[in-house]
Amino acid sequence: MALRNIVKDGDPVLLKKSREVQKFDQRLHTLLDDMQETLYESGGVGLAGVQVGVLRRIAVIDVGEGLIEFINPKIIEKKGTHQVVEGCLSFPDQYGIVERPVYVKTEYFDRFGKKHIVEGEDLFAQAMCHEFDHMDGVVFKSKVLRMLRPEELQQRREE
Ligand code: CO
Repeated sequence: MALRNIVKDGDPVLLKKSREVQKFDQRLHTLLDDMQETLYESGGVGLAGVQVGVLRRIAVIDVGEGLIEFINPKIIEKKGTHQVVEGCLSFPDQYGIVERPVYVKTEYFDRFGKKHIVEGEDLFAQAMCHEFDHMDGVVFKSKVLRMLRPEELQQRREE
């Protein structure tokens, strides 16, 4: 495994749409392994292909319940909305309030091309929406209702 560089704010690749994965081969597995290592090293909860400069519809997410690799995901159901604090590994130290569904159901493929369905609530639902947005070239800052000031962030961390 190897660490990949995370693309940062201002890089136009973040606004590009990713293409579907066609081949579930060793090259894909290596990329997913590298993304997993990069995610854990960074301390984030999710990382999409575009964030390591690969315009493929893939993401890794771990909200503390184990890693899931999402390939060609599609949200097939959403319920509720709430306003939540959000950040992104490509936007270090920037956080804002975003409106996200409370619940989502997603259909996706694993690294071997097998189809799965997963349901998620709260942070997991938020992470899926955030990472899948990346696949369409959408960054959280384009959806932010209001950015948080550093002192507000500090306050929220202490709560
Ligand atoms: Co992000």
